Amino acid sequence: MCGIIGVLGTHEVAPVLVDALKRLEYRGYDSAGIATVHNGKLDRRRALGKLINLSDLLVHEPLIGKSGIGHTRWATHGEPTVKNAHPHISGRVSVVHNGIIENFQELLKELKACGYAPTTQTDTETVSMLVDHYLSQGETPLQSVRNCLTKLNGAFGLCFLFEGEEDLIIATRKGSPLAIGYGDGEIYVGSDAIALAPMTDRISYLEEGDIAVLSRSQVSIEDKDSSPANREIRTIRSGSNRFEKDGYTHFMEKEIYEQPSVIAQNLKHYISDTGQITLNGINLDFSSIERITLVACGTAFYACLTAKYWFEKLARIPVDVDVASEFRYRTPPVAANTLAIFVSQSGETADTLAALRYCKDKAAHIWSVTNVTESSIARESDVDLPIYAGIEIGVASTKAFTCQLTVLLTLALKAASDQNQINDHKRHEILSSMQSLPSLINLALNCSENLRFVANELAHATDILFLGRGLLFPLALEGALKLKEISYIHAEAYAAGELKHGPIALIDETVPVVVMAPQDSLFDKTLSNVQEVMARKGRILMIADAKALKDAGQGFWKAIEMPHCHEIISPIIYAIPAQMLAYYTALAKGTDVDQPRNLAKSVTVE
Ligand code: F6R
Repeated sequence: MCGIIGVLGTHEVAPVLVDALKRLEYRGYDSAGIATVHNGKLDRRRALGKLINLSDLLVHEPLIGKSGIGHTRWATHGEPTVKNAHPHISGRVSVVHNGIIENFQELLKELKACGYAPTTQTDTETVSMLVDHYLSQGETPLQSVRNCLTKLNGAFGLCFLFEGEEDLIIATRKGSPLAIGYGDGEIYVGSDAIALAPMTDRISYLEEGDIAVLSRSQVSIEDKDSSPANREIRTIRSGSNRFEKDGYTHFMEKEIYEQPSVIAQNLKHYISDTGQITLNGINLDFSSIERITLVACGTAFYACLTAKYWFEKLARIPVDVDVASEFRYRTPPVAANTLAIFVSQSGETADTLAALRYCKDKAAHIWSVTNVTESSIARESDVDLPIYAGIEIGVASTKAFTCQLTVLLTLALKAASDQNQINDHKRHEILSSMQSLPSLINLALNCSENLRFVANELAHATDILFLGRGLLFPLALEGALKLKEISYIHAEAYAAGELKHGPIALIDETVPVVVMAPQDSLFDKTLSNVQEVMARKGRILMIADAKALKDAGQGFWKAIEMPHCHEIISPIIYAIPAQMLAYYTALAKGTDVDQPRNLAKSVTVE
């Protein structure tokens, strides 16, 4: 979602702003812009589409100044146009914004009555107009921002630059994260630490309702009650190569291939060398847990759906799984001792965060599984279980998904032990299969190379179905999502047994059907469903292990052989071909793999 950067520098700031915006590209955007203040005057450049368009514009129309703000916009209110691109300027104020001002129509009426005329269709412009309105009444920049905040409903990260103020940026957040970076005589603010990484590794995070007044020599922060606040400055691991493709064509490809190593890292934190569940040193006990609620969005939701099968199968604990955007408005009853687990790569997804707060209000136990330990979801949970995936840049989640699954499986296994539902032999069998995840994923990566050829043909399809049963059903959903988001081919997933209740009507020789069917306890059932498809001329792409392929016989359109693995870890292993199928199909179609159209990495609006 929208990326924000602000710099009070010691040199020309335009190239620094554009460079930082490049590092925020992964969040998804449709236009970009920067503003500076120079000789007291505000000026800006904005361009539609990719950042290269902004860079080109700056070659022809340079922007001078050592203080500036920048923005990558993911349109919410008003279509992507240069006019609607940020920064917005109203009178003496320029602003960049991530989030949504929900009451902007109402504010607009008041502002129009004061003589303001909007020049854009955005909600954000009301913010710059409001602050300018208070400035023109003689208020200081800080007081103007304070007054403005009392009027705003919604979620926002905001960063202001003021005419006549070359040593001042004001930043504030409610809902959308902002990080402050401390440099050598320079100060930075950004949507996340990634934006600031090459400039500084000394970062502090603003908390809900904070207002930060930045100058080159000082940062003063006040909290939501206007009391002075101290936000710890931490040194983060910045290693700039974390933001490089390291020879891969796309971040998504790099992240797919990183899975053996990040999962090994993940296992190190959750399982000891001697095969004991250590849960990252966190003391968690499931013995009195009677019910679990899992809440997430998108890919993380499919990780939760897989975990439902694990918790119910291994620990015999009933699990409810919900999409966060539905959960939060359904106002479901939540018993005070419910264990609610929120899964989120970014830790900032607005709906997941709102669902968390809803449960917290009901005094539930709040755990989270995140990839960003400083994120809002991690910080607002009673317990956060990090997934150790390392930064994920590709918009389509890959390594975070398999790391989420690994943590959730470990939790399910711990729950099974605490509830006395599993004997030592079975537990060790599963733990040792988990220890083999990195090597099995390596094998799966090799097998999946063959998918490249299949993908060239899939790229011509207009509709593709994914089928799976049991633990492979959520993965079928994930496979369809991955394909949709980066190749733009319509894909749907069904539980294999559900096909004949309607969707089988879609089958003909033009619809490829991807079936993920390891030789597990449900294999024969899946195979019957596959036969039903083939009897109707459906083209089956069978992804299965050698034994399953042999038992299944002939007649498939294509077959991809996977390594044999323990049934319980099959969703993690079969995630690899699902991801690669999407990746190679997108490559064949020539789409923008790392920044697919209309998508944002961190969805901080509802
Ligand atoms: C799909 C994808 C999204 C995210 C979803 C939740 O590839 O990445 O569906 O999984 O937006 O994001 P997080 O996990 O950050 O809460």
